[in-house]
Amino acid sequence: MKIKNICCIGAGYVGGPTMSIIAQKNPEIKVHVVDMNANKIAAWNSKNLDYLPVYEPGLSKVVEEARGRNLFFSTDVDKQIYDAEMIFISVNTPTKTSGEGKGYAADLKYIEACAKQIAKVSKTDKIVVEKSTVPVRTSEKIKHILKLNNKDVDFQILSNPEFLAEGTAMRDLEIPDRVLIGGDNTVKGKKAVESLFNIYSSWVPEENILVTNLWSSELSKLTANAFLAQRISSINSLSELCEETGADIEEVSNAIGMDSRIGNSFLKTSVGFGGSCFQKDILNLVYIARSLGLVKVADYWEQILIINKHQRERFANKIKTLINKNSLIKSVSILGWAFKKDTNDTRESAAIYVSDSLIRSDISVNVYDPKVKESQILFDINHINENYTENNEHVSIYNDPIESVDKTNIIAILTEWDEFKDYNWKKIFDKMNKPAYIYDGRNILEKEKLESIGFNYIGIGR
Ligand code: NAD
Ligand code: UGA
Repeated sequence: MKIKNICCIGAGYVGGPTMSIIAQKNPEIKVHVVDMNANKIAAWNSKNLDYLPVYEPGLSKVVEEARGRNLFFSTDVDKQIYDAEMIFISVNTPTKTSGEGKGYAADLKYIEACAKQIAKVSKTDKIVVEKSTVPVRTSEKIKHILKLNNKDVDFQILSNPEFLAEGTAMRDLEIPDRVLIGGDNTVKGKKAVESLFNIYSSWVPEENILVTNLWSSELSKLTANAFLAQRISSINSLSELCEETGADIEEVSNAIGMDSRIGNSFLKTSVGFGGSCFQKDILNLVYIARSLGLVKVADYWEQILIINKHQRERFANKIKTLINKNSLIKSVSILGWAFKKDTNDTRESAAIYVSDSLIRSDISVNVYDPKVKESQILFDINHINENYTENNEHVSIYNDPIESVDKTNIIAILTEWDEFKDYNWKKIFDKMNKPAYIYDGRNILEKEKLESIGFNYIGIGR
Protein backbone atom coordinates (compact mmCIF):
# COMPACT_ATOMS: atom_id res chain seq x y z
CA MET A 1 0.00 0.00 0.00
CA LYS A 2 1.27 3.48 -0.84
CA ILE A 3 1.10 5.58 2.30
CA LYS A 4 -0.25 9.13 1.89
CA ASN A 5 -0.90 10.13 5.50
CA ILE A 6 1.32 9.51 8.49
CA CYS A 7 0.55 10.39 12.09
CA CYS A 8 3.31 10.31 14.71
CA ILE A 9 2.24 10.39 18.36
CA GLY A 10 4.99 12.09 20.39
CA ALA A 11 6.80 15.27 19.29
CA GLY A 12 9.93 14.72 21.38
CA TYR A 13 13.62 14.21 20.61
CA VAL A 14 12.77 11.23 18.38
CA GLY A 15 9.34 12.05 16.93
CA GLY A 16 10.27 15.61 15.90
CA PRO A 17 13.56 14.99 14.04
CA THR A 18 12.55 11.59 12.62
CA MET A 19 9.31 12.83 11.12
CA SER A 20 10.99 15.98 9.82
CA ILE A 21 13.35 13.84 7.75
CA ILE A 22 10.60 11.47 6.59
CA ALA A 23 8.59 14.51 5.45
CA GLN A 24 11.59 16.14 3.79
CA LYS A 25 12.44 12.99 1.84
CA ASN A 26 8.83 12.13 0.92
CA PRO A 27 7.15 15.39 -0.10
CA GLU A 28 4.12 13.49 -1.41
CA ILE A 29 3.31 12.08 2.07
CA LYS A 30 1.54 14.27 4.63
CA VAL A 31 3.23 13.84 8.03
CA HIS A 32 1.36 15.02 11.11
CA VAL A 33 3.27 15.01 14.41
CA VAL A 34 0.92 15.20 17.39
CA ASP A 35 1.51 15.60 21.10
CA MET A 36 -0.64 16.21 24.16
CA ASN A 37 1.84 18.85 25.32
CA ALA A 38 0.46 22.08 23.82
CA ASN A 39 3.55 24.14 24.74
CA LYS A 40 5.80 21.73 22.89
CA ILE A 41 3.60 21.85 19.79
CA ALA A 42 3.53 25.66 19.94
CA ALA A 43 7.34 25.62 20.06
CA TRP A 44 7.51 23.28 17.03
CA ASN A 45 5.28 25.77 15.21
CA SER A 46 7.22 28.87 16.26
CA LYS A 47 8.16 31.25 13.46
CA ASN A 48 11.57 31.81 14.97
CA LEU A 49 13.38 28.51 14.40
CA ASP A 50 15.65 29.19 17.40
CA TYR A 51 12.65 28.32 19.58
CA LEU A 52 12.13 24.75 18.36
CA PRO A 53 11.86 22.54 21.48
CA VAL A 54 14.76 20.33 20.36
CA TYR A 55 18.20 21.75 19.66
CA GLU A 56 19.87 19.58 17.07
CA PRO A 57 22.39 20.80 14.47
CA GLY A 58 20.72 20.90 11.02
CA LEU A 59 17.18 20.35 12.32
CA SER A 60 15.84 23.85 11.82
CA LYS A 61 16.79 23.81 8.13
CA VAL A 62 14.81 20.62 7.53
CA VAL A 63 11.83 21.92 9.52
CA GLU A 64 11.93 25.17 7.56
CA GLU A 65 11.82 23.26 4.29
CA ALA A 66 9.01 20.82 5.13
CA ARG A 67 6.84 22.56 7.75
CA GLY A 68 3.57 23.78 6.28
CA ARG A 69 4.26 21.88 3.03
CA ASN A 70 3.78 18.29 4.17
CA LEU A 71 4.97 18.44 7.80
CA PHE A 72 2.53 19.59 10.47
CA PHE A 73 2.60 19.79 14.26
CA SER A 74 -0.64 19.78 16.27
CA THR A 75 -2.40 18.68 19.42
CA ASP A 76 -5.28 17.21 17.44
CA VAL A 77 -4.36 13.60 18.22
CA ASP A 78 -7.75 12.03 17.40
CA LYS A 79 -8.19 13.65 14.00
CA GLN A 80 -4.70 12.75 12.83
CA ILE A 81 -5.04 9.15 13.99
CA TYR A 82 -8.38 8.94 12.16
CA ASP A 83 -6.92 10.27 8.90
CA ALA A 84 -3.64 8.33 8.86
CA GLU A 85 -2.90 4.98 7.22
CA MET A 86 0.29 4.61 9.25
CA ILE A 87 0.72 5.69 12.89
CA PHE A 88 4.09 5.88 14.62
CA ILE A 89 4.13 5.63 18.41
CA SER A 90 7.09 7.70 19.56
CA VAL A 91 6.23 8.41 23.16
CA ASN A 92 8.46 8.18 26.22
CA THR A 93 9.04 4.80 27.91
CA PRO A 94 10.66 5.77 31.23
CA THR A 95 11.66 3.46 34.07
CA LYS A 96 8.74 2.58 36.34
CA THR A 97 8.69 4.54 39.60
CA SER A 98 6.05 2.41 41.32
CA GLY A 99 4.38 -0.99 41.18
CA GLU A 100 5.84 -4.25 39.92
CA GLY A 101 9.31 -3.74 38.44
CA LYS A 102 9.73 -0.33 40.13
CA GLY A 103 13.17 1.12 39.40
CA TYR A 104 13.87 -1.36 36.58
CA ALA A 105 11.03 -2.17 34.19
CA ALA A 106 9.97 0.17 31.40
CA ASP A 107 6.74 2.01 32.13
CA LEU A 108 4.50 1.29 29.18
CA LYS A 109 1.57 3.43 30.31
CA TYR A 110 2.09 6.01 27.54
CA ILE A 111 2.37 3.28 24.89
CA GLU A 112 -0.76 1.60 26.21
CA ALA A 113 -2.65 4.91 26.26
CA CYS A 114 -1.71 5.44 22.59
CA ALA A 115 -2.88 1.94 21.66
CA LYS A 116 -6.22 2.53 23.38
CA GLN A 117 -6.65 5.88 21.67
CA ILE A 118 -5.79 4.42 18.25
CA ALA A 119 -8.34 1.64 18.81
CA LYS A 120 -11.01 4.11 19.93
CA VAL A 121 -10.63 6.50 17.02
CA SER A 122 -9.86 4.22 14.05
CA LYS A 123 -12.49 3.46 11.46
CA THR A 124 -10.15 2.25 8.69
CA ASP A 125 -7.27 -0.27 8.64
CA LYS A 126 -4.02 1.03 10.14
CA ILE A 127 -0.35 0.12 10.29
CA VAL A 128 0.89 0.87 13.81
CA VAL A 129 4.65 1.36 14.10
CA GLU A 130 6.49 1.06 17.41
CA LYS A 131 9.16 3.75 17.23
CA SER A 132 9.70 4.00 20.99
CA THR A 133 12.21 1.67 22.64
CA VAL A 134 10.23 -1.10 24.31
CA PRO A 135 10.77 -4.45 26.05
CA VAL A 136 10.82 -7.49 23.80
CA ARG A 137 7.25 -8.71 23.04
CA THR A 138 5.59 -5.32 23.61
CA SER A 139 4.12 -5.60 20.12
CA GLU A 140 2.01 -8.50 21.47
CA LYS A 141 0.59 -6.20 24.14
CA ILE A 142 -0.19 -3.48 21.62
CA LYS A 143 -1.86 -6.00 19.34
CA HIS A 144 -3.95 -7.29 22.21
CA ILE A 145 -5.11 -3.81 23.28
CA LEU A 146 -5.98 -2.84 19.71
CA LYS A 147 -7.94 -6.04 19.03
CA LEU A 148 -9.74 -5.92 22.39
CA ASN A 149 -10.91 -2.36 21.88
CA ASN A 150 -11.70 -2.38 18.15
CA LYS A 151 -12.87 -5.50 16.32
CA ASP A 152 -13.84 -3.76 13.06
CA VAL A 153 -10.46 -2.61 11.87
CA ASP A 154 -7.35 -4.56 10.84
CA PHE A 155 -4.22 -3.40 12.65
CA GLN A 156 -0.76 -4.48 11.51
CA ILE A 157 2.01 -3.87 14.03
CA LEU A 158 5.59 -3.10 13.02
CA SER A 159 8.65 -2.51 15.14
CA ASN A 160 10.94 0.22 13.80
CA PRO A 161 13.29 1.24 16.63
CA GLU A 162 15.27 4.43 16.31
CA PHE A 163 19.08 4.44 16.55
CA LEU A 164 19.79 8.18 16.27
CA ALA A 165 22.07 9.77 18.85
CA GLU A 166 21.35 13.29 20.04
CA GLY A 167 23.68 15.94 18.74
CA THR A 168 24.18 13.97 15.51
CA ALA A 169 20.52 13.07 14.94
CA MET A 170 20.15 14.69 11.52
CA ARG A 171 23.24 12.99 10.13
CA ASP A 172 22.21 9.68 11.73
CA LEU A 173 18.78 9.97 10.10
CA GLU A 174 20.14 11.08 6.74
CA ILE A 175 22.71 8.27 6.47
CA PRO A 176 21.72 5.60 8.99
CA ASP A 177 24.00 2.58 9.49
CA ARG A 178 20.80 0.58 9.22
CA VAL A 179 17.04 0.95 9.44
CA LEU A 180 15.44 -1.94 11.27
CA ILE A 181 11.89 -3.09 10.51
CA GLY A 182 10.29 -5.98 12.38
CA GLY A 183 7.00 -7.41 11.20
CA ASP A 184 4.79 -10.49 11.09
CA ASN A 185 5.58 -13.17 8.55
CA THR A 186 2.01 -13.18 7.18
CA VAL A 187 0.64 -11.82 3.90
CA LYS A 188 -0.71 -8.67 5.60
CA GLY A 189 2.36 -8.39 7.80
CA LYS A 190 4.67 -8.48 4.78
CA LYS A 191 2.58 -5.82 2.99
CA ALA A 192 2.85 -3.57 6.04
CA VAL A 193 6.63 -4.06 6.11
CA GLU A 194 6.77 -3.20 2.41
CA SER A 195 4.86 0.07 2.99
CA LEU A 196 7.35 1.21 5.60
CA PHE A 197 10.28 -0.09 3.57
CA ASN A 198 9.16 2.11 0.64
CA ILE A 199 9.09 5.22 2.82
CA TYR A 200 12.69 4.71 3.96
CA SER A 201 13.98 3.56 0.58
CA SER A 202 13.27 7.01 -0.82
CA TRP A 203 16.66 7.95 0.68
CA VAL A 204 18.21 4.93 2.44
CA PRO A 205 19.98 2.31 0.26
CA GLU A 206 17.86 -0.86 0.27
CA GLU A 207 20.76 -3.02 1.53
CA ASN A 208 20.79 -0.90 4.70
CA ILE A 209 17.13 -1.64 5.49
CA LEU A 210 17.00 -4.76 7.59
CA VAL A 211 13.80 -6.78 7.96
CA THR A 212 13.43 -9.16 10.91
CA ASN A 213 10.66 -10.64 13.00
CA LEU A 214 9.00 -8.33 15.54
CA TRP A 215 10.74 -9.61 18.64
CA SER A 216 14.23 -9.62 17.15
CA SER A 217 13.72 -6.01 16.19
CA GLU A 218 12.55 -5.02 19.69
CA LEU A 219 15.38 -6.87 21.41
CA SER A 220 18.05 -5.59 19.00
CA LYS A 221 17.32 -2.01 20.01
CA LEU A 222 17.69 -2.69 23.75
CA THR A 223 20.86 -4.69 23.26
CA ALA A 224 22.47 -2.18 20.86
CA ASN A 225 22.22 0.43 23.60
CA ALA A 226 23.52 -2.02 26.19
CA PHE A 227 26.57 -2.81 24.02
CA LEU A 228 27.37 0.87 23.50
CA ALA A 229 27.06 1.66 27.19
CA GLN A 230 29.13 -1.41 28.05
CA ARG A 231 32.07 -0.02 26.10
CA ILE A 232 31.90 3.27 27.99
CA SER A 233 31.77 1.57 31.38
CA SER A 234 34.64 -0.70 30.34
CA ILE A 235 36.87 2.24 29.43
CA ASN A 236 35.73 4.21 32.50
CA SER A 237 36.56 1.30 34.79
CA LEU A 238 40.04 1.23 33.26
CA SER A 239 40.44 4.98 33.80
CA GLU A 240 40.58 4.34 37.55
CA LEU A 241 43.16 1.63 37.04
CA CYS A 242 45.21 4.08 34.96
CA GLU A 243 45.13 6.66 37.74
CA GLU A 244 46.57 4.08 40.15
CA THR A 245 49.26 2.76 37.83
CA GLY A 246 50.54 5.75 35.87
CA ALA A 247 49.12 4.51 32.56
CA ASP A 248 47.23 7.10 30.47
CA ILE A 249 43.68 6.13 29.49
CA GLU A 250 43.84 8.14 26.26
CA GLU A 251 46.88 6.15 25.15
CA VAL A 252 45.33 2.87 26.27
CA SER A 253 42.06 3.69 24.50
CA ASN A 254 43.92 4.57 21.31
CA ALA A 255 45.96 1.36 21.46
CA ILE A 256 42.89 -0.81 22.04
CA GLY A 257 40.81 0.96 19.41
CA MET A 258 43.39 0.45 16.65
CA ASP A 259 42.62 -3.25 16.78
CA SER A 260 40.16 -3.50 13.91
CA ARG A 261 38.28 -6.25 15.75
CA ILE A 262 37.60 -3.84 18.61
CA GLY A 263 37.21 -0.54 16.75
CA ASN A 264 37.74 2.92 18.18
CA SER A 265 34.24 4.30 18.73
CA PHE A 266 32.66 4.60 22.17
CA LEU A 267 36.02 4.27 23.90
CA LYS A 268 36.15 7.86 25.15
CA THR A 269 36.49 7.98 28.90
CA SER A 270 34.19 10.41 30.71
CA VAL A 271 32.69 11.43 34.01
CA GLY A 272 29.97 8.90 33.17
CA PHE A 273 27.41 8.48 30.43
CA GLY A 274 24.08 10.26 30.61
CA GLY A 275 21.08 10.59 28.35
CA SER A 276 17.54 9.38 28.63
CA CYS A 277 18.14 5.92 27.28
CA PHE A 278 21.27 3.99 28.26
CA GLN A 279 20.35 3.67 31.91
CA LYS A 280 16.66 3.00 31.39
CA ASP A 281 17.26 0.47 28.62
CA ILE A 282 19.86 -1.46 30.62
CA LEU A 283 17.61 -1.45 33.69
CA ASN A 284 14.92 -2.84 31.46
CA LEU A 285 17.23 -5.54 30.08
CA VAL A 286 18.23 -6.46 33.63
CA TYR A 287 14.55 -6.67 34.61
CA ILE A 288 13.68 -8.89 31.66
CA ALA A 289 16.60 -11.24 32.38
CA ARG A 290 15.81 -11.39 36.10
CA SER A 291 12.10 -12.03 35.41
CA LEU A 292 13.13 -15.02 33.31
CA GLY A 293 15.33 -16.32 36.16
CA LEU A 294 18.55 -15.46 34.30
CA VAL A 295 20.28 -14.08 37.38
CA LYS A 296 23.85 -14.18 36.07
CA VAL A 297 22.82 -12.47 32.83
CA ALA A 298 21.02 -9.75 34.80
CA ASP A 299 23.99 -9.24 37.13
CA TYR A 300 26.38 -9.01 34.19
CA TRP A 301 24.50 -6.15 32.51
CA GLU A 302 23.78 -4.36 35.78
CA GLN A 303 27.53 -3.92 36.34
CA ILE A 304 27.52 -1.31 33.55
CA LEU A 305 25.31 0.93 35.65
CA ILE A 306 27.25 0.24 38.85
CA ILE A 307 30.47 1.42 37.18
CA ASN A 308 28.74 4.46 35.70
CA LYS A 309 27.48 5.59 39.11
CA HIS A 310 30.89 4.89 40.61
CA GLN A 311 32.59 7.04 37.96
CA ARG A 312 30.36 10.04 38.72
CA GLU A 313 30.80 9.62 42.46
CA ARG A 314 34.54 9.32 42.37
CA PHE A 315 34.75 12.47 40.25
CA ALA A 316 32.68 14.43 42.81
CA ASN A 317 34.61 12.91 45.71
CA LYS A 318 37.94 13.96 44.23
CA ILE A 319 36.77 17.57 44.11
CA LYS A 320 35.48 17.42 47.69
CA THR A 321 38.75 15.93 48.96
CA LEU A 322 40.75 18.64 47.20
CA ILE A 323 38.61 21.40 48.72
CA ASN A 324 38.78 19.97 52.23
CA LYS A 325 42.49 19.13 52.17
CA ASN A 326 43.50 22.59 50.95
CA SER A 327 40.74 24.64 52.61
CA LEU A 328 39.66 26.01 49.23
CA ILE A 329 36.57 28.15 48.59
CA LYS A 330 33.47 25.93 48.74
CA SER A 331 32.30 26.87 45.29
CA VAL A 332 32.91 25.13 41.95
CA SER A 333 32.39 26.42 38.41
CA ILE A 334 30.56 23.76 36.40
CA LEU A 335 31.09 24.12 32.66
CA GLY A 336 28.53 22.09 30.75
CA TRP A 337 25.15 20.77 31.90
CA ALA A 338 23.86 18.88 28.82
CA PHE A 339 24.50 15.12 28.84
CA LYS A 340 26.69 15.53 25.74
CA LYS A 341 27.66 18.31 23.35
CA ASP A 342 25.37 19.70 20.66
CA THR A 343 22.12 19.03 22.50
CA ASN A 344 20.00 20.91 25.02
CA ASP A 345 18.92 17.60 26.56
CA THR A 346 19.97 17.13 30.18
CA ARG A 347 18.26 13.87 31.06
CA GLU A 348 20.50 11.75 33.33
CA SER A 349 23.40 14.12 32.69
CA ALA A 350 26.45 13.42 34.86
CA ALA A 351 26.47 17.16 35.68
CA ILE A 352 23.27 16.77 37.68
CA TYR A 353 24.67 13.97 39.84
CA VAL A 354 28.07 15.58 40.38
CA SER A 355 26.44 18.91 41.32
CA ASP A 356 24.00 17.23 43.67
CA SER A 357 26.83 15.45 45.42
CA LEU A 358 28.77 18.72 45.83
CA ILE A 359 25.70 20.63 47.08
CA ARG A 360 25.03 17.94 49.67
CA SER A 361 28.53 18.62 51.00
CA ASP A 362 27.72 22.32 51.26
CA ILE A 363 29.68 23.24 48.13
CA SER A 364 28.01 25.76 45.80
CA VAL A 365 27.90 25.27 42.05
CA ASN A 366 28.13 28.05 39.45
CA VAL A 367 26.76 26.59 36.24
CA TYR A 368 27.31 27.62 32.64
CA ASP A 369 26.01 25.75 29.58
CA PRO A 370 25.77 27.21 26.08
CA LYS A 371 22.37 25.64 25.26
CA VAL A 372 20.57 24.62 28.44
CA LYS A 373 18.08 27.09 29.90
CA GLU A 374 18.30 28.29 33.52
CA SER A 375 14.83 26.89 34.31
CA GLN A 376 15.95 23.43 33.14
CA ILE A 377 19.06 23.46 35.33
CA LEU A 378 17.02 24.43 38.39
CA PHE A 379 14.41 21.80 37.56
CA ASP A 380 17.09 19.11 37.24
CA ILE A 381 18.79 19.91 40.50
CA ASN A 382 15.50 20.02 42.39
CA HIS A 383 14.08 16.81 40.95
CA ILE A 384 17.05 14.49 41.19
CA ASN A 385 15.13 12.23 43.54
CA GLU A 386 11.70 12.04 45.11
CA ASN A 387 12.81 13.25 48.55
CA TYR A 388 14.87 16.20 47.44
CA THR A 389 14.08 19.46 49.15
CA GLU A 390 14.48 22.56 47.04
CA ASN A 391 17.87 24.09 47.64
CA ASN A 392 18.61 26.81 45.13
CA GLU A 393 20.81 28.86 47.42
CA HIS A 394 23.73 26.63 46.43
CA VAL A 395 23.11 27.03 42.69
CA SER A 396 23.95 30.05 40.52
CA ILE A 397 23.53 30.04 36.77
CA TYR A 398 25.55 32.20 34.38
CA ASN A 399 25.23 33.20 30.75
CA ASP A 400 28.93 33.90 30.53
CA PRO A 401 31.55 31.30 31.53
CA ILE A 402 33.97 33.90 32.80
CA GLU A 403 31.42 35.15 35.36
CA SER A 404 31.02 31.61 36.67
CA VAL A 405 34.66 31.33 37.79
CA ASP A 406 34.67 34.43 39.96
CA LYS A 407 35.62 33.53 43.58
CA THR A 408 36.31 29.88 42.81
CA ASN A 409 39.44 27.74 42.81
CA ILE A 410 37.99 24.93 40.74
CA ILE A 411 36.47 24.47 37.29
CA ALA A 412 34.84 21.16 36.45
CA ILE A 413 34.25 20.39 32.75
CA LEU A 414 31.25 18.10 32.52
CA THR A 415 30.14 18.35 28.87
CA GLU A 416 32.51 18.19 25.91
CA TRP A 417 31.25 21.40 24.20
CA ASP A 418 33.70 22.42 21.46
CA GLU A 419 33.64 26.07 22.55
CA PHE A 420 35.46 25.16 25.79
CA LYS A 421 38.56 24.32 23.75
CA ASP A 422 38.62 27.80 22.23
CA TYR A 423 38.37 29.84 25.43
CA ASN A 424 40.95 32.39 26.43
CA TRP A 425 42.09 30.29 29.39
CA LYS A 426 44.63 32.90 30.51
CA LYS A 427 41.81 35.42 31.00
CA ILE A 428 39.82 32.82 32.95
CA PHE A 429 42.86 31.96 35.07
CA ASP A 430 43.38 35.64 35.95
CA LYS A 431 39.78 35.93 37.17
CA MET A 432 39.98 32.88 39.48
CA ASN A 433 41.16 32.47 43.05
CA LYS A 434 44.56 30.82 43.33
CA PRO A 435 45.57 28.05 43.31
CA ALA A 436 43.38 27.35 40.25
CA TYR A 437 42.35 23.80 39.29
CA ILE A 438 40.67 22.31 36.25
CA TYR A 439 38.94 18.94 36.61
CA ASP A 440 38.41 17.88 33.02
CA GLY A 441 35.63 15.28 33.14
CA ARG A 442 35.89 14.82 29.38
CA ASN A 443 39.66 15.03 28.75
CA ILE A 444 39.10 17.69 26.09
CA LEU A 445 41.61 20.35 27.13
CA GLU A 446 45.35 20.41 26.60
CA LYS A 447 47.16 19.66 29.86
CA GLU A 448 50.49 21.25 28.90
CA LYS A 449 48.90 24.46 27.65
CA LEU A 450 46.86 24.91 30.82
CA GLU A 451 49.77 24.06 33.10
CA SER A 452 51.91 26.65 31.30
CA ILE A 453 49.27 29.26 32.21
CA GLY A 454 49.43 28.20 35.86
CA PHE A 455 46.45 25.84 36.22
CA ASN A 456 46.64 22.54 38.04
CA TYR A 457 45.09 20.24 35.46
CA ILE A 458 43.45 16.94 36.46
CA GLY A 459 41.97 14.79 33.70
CA ILE A 460 40.31 11.39 33.97
CA GLY A 461 42.48 8.29 33.92
CA ARG A 462 45.77 10.08 33.41
P1 NAD B 1 10.41 12.67 24.71
O1 NAD B 1 10.04 12.65 26.14
O2 NAD B 1 11.33 13.72 24.19
O3 NAD B 1 9.07 12.76 23.83
C1 NAD B 1 7.94 11.95 24.05
C2 NAD B 1 6.70 12.80 23.77
O4 NAD B 1 5.54 11.96 23.80
C3 NAD B 1 6.45 13.88 24.84
O5 NAD B 1 6.44 15.15 24.21
C4 NAD B 1 5.06 13.53 25.41
O6 NAD B 1 4.28 14.68 25.72
C5 NAD B 1 4.45 12.73 24.29
N1 NAD B 1 3.36 11.82 24.70
C6 NAD B 1 3.41 10.86 25.66
N2 NAD B 1 2.23 10.21 25.70
C7 NAD B 1 1.42 10.78 24.77
C8 NAD B 1 0.08 10.53 24.33
N3 NAD B 1 -0.65 9.55 24.86
N4 NAD B 1 -0.42 11.32 23.36
C9 NAD B 1 0.31 12.31 22.81
N5 NAD B 1 1.59 12.58 23.16
C10 NAD B 1 2.15 11.81 24.13
O7 NAD B 1 10.99 11.23 24.39
P2 NAD B 1 12.08 10.85 23.26
O8 NAD B 1 13.44 11.18 23.73
O9 NAD B 1 11.60 11.36 21.96
O10 NAD B 1 11.97 9.26 23.28
C11 NAD B 1 10.84 8.59 22.77
C12 NAD B 1 11.16 7.11 22.66
O11 NAD B 1 12.22 6.93 21.73
C13 NAD B 1 11.61 6.45 23.96
O12 NAD B 1 11.11 5.14 24.01
C14 NAD B 1 13.13 6.42 23.82
O13 NAD B 1 13.69 5.35 24.55
C15 NAD B 1 13.31 6.21 22.35
N6 NAD B 1 14.57 6.74 21.79
C16 NAD B 1 15.06 7.95 22.19
C17 NAD B 1 16.22 8.46 21.60
C18 NAD B 1 16.80 9.79 22.00
O14 NAD B 1 17.89 10.10 21.56
N7 NAD B 1 16.14 10.60 22.79
C19 NAD B 1 16.86 7.73 20.59
C20 NAD B 1 16.32 6.50 20.20
C21 NAD B 1 15.18 6.02 20.81
C1 UGA C 1 22.40 6.65 22.39
C2 UGA C 1 22.83 5.74 21.24
O1 UGA C 1 24.13 6.14 20.78
C3 UGA C 1 21.82 5.82 20.08
O2 UGA C 1 22.18 4.88 19.07
C4 UGA C 1 20.44 5.47 20.62
O3 UGA C 1 19.47 5.59 19.58
C5 UGA C 1 20.10 6.42 21.75
O4 UGA C 1 21.10 6.31 22.79
C6 UGA C 1 18.79 6.09 22.42
O5 UGA C 1 18.29 5.00 22.31
O6 UGA C 1 18.33 7.01 23.08
P1 UGA C 1 22.55 9.25 22.91
O7 UGA C 1 22.25 8.83 24.28
O8 UGA C 1 21.72 10.32 22.30
O9 UGA C 1 22.44 7.99 21.91
O10 UGA C 1 24.07 9.73 22.77
P2 UGA C 1 25.47 8.94 22.79
O11 UGA C 1 26.34 9.55 21.79
O12 UGA C 1 25.29 7.48 22.71
O13 UGA C 1 26.05 9.33 24.22
C7 UGA C 1 25.47 8.83 25.41
C8 UGA C 1 26.34 9.22 26.58
O14 UGA C 1 27.57 8.50 26.57
C9 UGA C 1 26.73 10.70 26.61
O15 UGA C 1 26.69 11.18 27.94
C10 UGA C 1 28.14 10.70 26.07
O16 UGA C 1 28.89 11.80 26.50
C11 UGA C 1 28.66 9.40 26.66
N1 UGA C 1 29.80 8.82 25.91
C12 UGA C 1 29.66 8.47 24.61
C13 UGA C 1 31.01 8.61 26.56
O17 UGA C 1 31.15 8.91 27.76
N2 UGA C 1 32.04 8.05 25.87
C14 UGA C 1 31.93 7.68 24.57
O18 UGA C 1 32.91 7.16 24.00
C15 UGA C 1 30.70 7.90 23.91
